Amino acid sequence: MKNFQNEKQRDLSTNKSDGTNKVLTTNQGVLINDDNNSLKAGERGPSLLEDFILREKITHFDHERIPERVVHARGSGAHGFFEVTNPIPELTKAGFLQEAGLKTPVFTRFSTVAGSRGSTDLARDVRGFAVKFYTQEGIFDLVGNNIPVFFIQDASKFPDLVHAVKPEPHNEMPQAASAHDTFWDFISLMPESMHMIMWTMSDRAIPRSYRMMEGFGVHTFRLVNAENQSVFVKFHWKPKLGTHAVAWDEAQKISGKNPDFHRQDLWDAIEMGNFPEWELGVQVIPAEDEHKYDFDLLDPTKIVPEELVPVTIVGRMVLDKNPDNFFSETEQIAFHPGHVVPGIDFSNDPLLQGRLFSYTDTQLTRLGGPNFHEIPINRSIAPVHNNQRDGLMRQEVNVGRVSYHPNTLGGGCPYQAKIAEGGFSSFNERIEAHKVRERSESFADHFGQAKLFFNSQTPEEKSHIVKALRFELGKVETTAIRVRMLGLLSQVDVTLAEKVALGLGAQVPSTLEFPVNKGVSPENEGGNQEPQTI
Ligand code: HEM
Repeated sequence: MKNFQNEKQRDLSTNKSDGTNKVLTTNQGVLINDDNNSLKAGERGPSLLEDFILREKITHFDHERIPERVVHARGSGAHGFFEVTNPIPELTKAGFLQEAGLKTPVFTRFSTVAGSRGSTDLARDVRGFAVKFYTQEGIFDLVGNNIPVFFIQDASKFPDLVHAVKPEPHNEMPQAASAHDTFWDFISLMPESMHMIMWTMSDRAIPRSYRMMEGFGVHTFRLVNAENQSVFVKFHWKPKLGTHAVAWDEAQKISGKNPDFHRQDLWDAIEMGNFPEWELGVQVIPAEDEHKYDFDLLDPTKIVPEELVPVTIVGRMVLDKNPDNFFSETEQIAFHPGHVVPGIDFSNDPLLQGRLFSYTDTQLTRLGGPNFHEIPINRSIAPVHNNQRDGLMRQEVNVGRVSYHPNTLGGGCPYQAKIAEGGFSSFNERIEAHKVRERSESFADHFGQAKLFFNSQTPEEKSHIVKALRFELGKVETTAIRVRMLGLLSQVDVTLAEKVALGLGAQVPSTLEFPVNKGVSPENEGGNQEPQTI
């Protein structure tokens, strides 16, 4: 089966270069007559500084690496398209969702979170599932994961979470695994993470293939229609091949034999024409139902159960072309949950709000300055015009004397009025509030959905969770951390805690060190609460 070349792929082709059967030149276009020997003073003499051919080659090589992503460093990506099957103009004015059959080019990158660029694909970890839609109205990025909830409720804890899960700073161990003291130390003090911990200790955290993973936007987003009416939505990707995992024992063996297992599986499937496919669905929550549930829609540690709000399928995504160059596409792509188009907007989820700052900020370092939107894979297929100018590595040659607005000299609008009808305007949400640094009481239940998830598992799947926790906590050297974790697990399911304790040769504690119904650790509360008996 041959894939068609979509608009983004045509756009990329303007930057492609193929050196087959071409003679070598320097970067300045000067023909090179000897690429094997440096210029020396005599056959056995020292090399000469004037050898610009050697200097250029070595200098470029010296600068080949860029920083890896601070998280999600290990990833694999592919091109494809998104096709609308069930248009939703009543919910959103987003152009790419208006018409059945309409196709939008995409690039999708899957990743692990904790490991470095060269780490194994089969780590027990969350998987990133990031899709860049090159729409006619600009870029929309759906930067999701394969697990529908997150560890923390507030962006302020993200650097702590990542510092805890990454290899320890003194010895850079362990690689790509959560099985160590610092991770479990943090988690044991973070009861809000228990729902996500149930998912990460389950089979969901060791997928069989990227092609067999669900994807989730995690946060609640908004859709806004042409009448400026808004609904809340959760985004879902449903794999055509179903959701499948490997067992932990298999994962460890595969990691040893082929750490590129998922990368290769995705590549080979596409090369063979077995194009992976997902359906995109939305759970739609009417604005008036915002406070209807016993959890808060803004709390990213909660799902909206599909029994309460079913998923409506909107379209399908097919990945049908491997990248031409890993670095130029998979590595240089820059996703951002803040890349939205008219008709899609944010909720006030405090984790999402923090993300809206973080991505461009990190990419300024990772991709070397403010012009990384010009890198071919990041370039919009919708026209880009504004008065942003210059900066490191600027490619665009802006002509004319006007780089300000309003203006009369450059055909711009002379007044500070609306610039473009239909341009992005944020949803006009009414906010009346005090400025506070507090966690909402509506975020306080940390165990209800953790229990729900655990109870939804088959006996075999439950036994995998027990084994995973025994394995993980068995690697924790500090007894107090293990005991704190057993205490938290007992809040999810007493039998689960007891089974894990048995494997560790430990006891489930009868008291917790700190109250568990708050999303804060004891030191934030002053550390003077009475221990709670359970
Ligand atoms: C990557 C920050 C939560 C999904 C990243 C990167 C940063 C970051 C700095 C590296 C980006 C780059 O170098 O291009 C944060 C912060 C979070 C957060 C501050 C919370 C406050 C989440 C959540 C999800 C998520 C909840 C899932 C819904 C991803 C994915 C990538 C990523 C999929 C990899 C994108 C790619 O393939 O390039 N995140 N993140 N992150 N994040 Fe987050």
